[in-house]
Amino acid sequence: MNFWRSIRGCCRGLQVAVFCLAIVPAARGVATDGGTMRPVADMFQPLSRPAEMIHESALLVLAITAGIFVVVTAMLIFVVWKFRRKGDEDDLKEPPQIYGSTHIELAWTVIPILITFVLILVTSRTIGEIQNARMPEGALKVRLVGHQWWWEVHYPDLGIISANELHVPVSSRGSGKRRPTEIVLESADVIHSFWVPQLAGKTDLVPNKRNETWIEPFATGTYFGNCAEYCGTQHANMLLRVIVEEPEDFEKWVSGMKRPPVAPSGGLAAQGRTAFYGKSCVNCHRVDGTAAKGVFGPDLTKLMTRQTIGAGVAPLTPENLRAWVRDPQNLKTGCLMPDMKLADSEVDSITAYLLTLQ
Ligand code: CUA
Repeated sequence: MNFWRSIRGCCRGLQVAVFCLAIVPAARGVATDGGTMRPVADMFQPLSRPAEMIHESALLVLAITAGIFVVVTAMLIFVVWKFRRKGDEDDLKEPPQIYGSTHIELAWTVIPILITFVLILVTSRTIGEIQNARMPEGALKVRLVGHQWWWEVHYPDLGIISANELHVPVSSRGSGKRRPTEIVLESADVIHSFWVPQLAGKTDLVPNKRNETWIEPFATGTYFGNCAEYCGTQHANMLLRVIVEEPEDFEKWVSGMKRPPVAPSGGLAAQGRTAFYGKSCVNCHRVDGTAAKGVFGPDLTKLMTRQTIGAGVAPLTPENLRAWVRDPQNLKTGCLMPDMKLADSEVDSITAYLLTLQ
């Protein structure tokens, strides 16, 4: 363990650099539930089985490459110092001319080959262990579909459809209660990439292909993920939250998700409901148990249970929701939902209806 600890110490500087790169814009959002927020997606603080496996081999790779860096830099400094210009007499004579050295050439060929071989073995072993991991009985199954620029979430065994937020149960680190989540990844349009740094490595979502990954978080809380493959204008605002809960809280969430929202019986929300179903909203959005069956946009059945709007672009508050209904292009320029040119009264009533979807 001391070995890993000393490597971890050496990698602190590198961590800072990667840490800065990995700050996810989702941190702007404000949680309404989900417990501990983990706003910085730091892959050096893995909290899930596959992420820990990647972390271990990443440390070894960093240690080896740091060693190479130190040796090469030291040799370079030594040569620059030893063969520096020592005086005017240096300009008058030619340095010794050496043509080839079998020993040196062998050394700089064989040593890098051996190092590369070790790196290949270490990384392919980790990749193999993650890809071929056997899921225990009762693993949660999720289908995640990437869209420009949001995530469609399906729980096929539970009959739940949602968007941009993934609720999963926590597992224990030891051999105790284990309930990993198997995730099938698909795309509806272009190539996206699933990446929740603290939970698992990146896996692409490719059109007409089924990829798979899995996560097994050891700590409850809200984890930030994002799309890691440039997929168009709003690639940076294609954010994903993974909410890891105690098994009993997860079951509570599941039963809540299975209860369709109650249709408002009167007032502004009921007017909004009529407006919603009279407009083209229903062509793109789905609300379970109603005539809205669209599949191009996010499922709105349990909209108000989510933390953000527009796949993480803003916290889901009544004001932001109203602003979105007014003109989504203001909050998320280029998103595929157009400005519907609604009258003020329609904006108010449709917002009031959406607020009942919980
Ligand atoms: Cu989806 Cu980048």
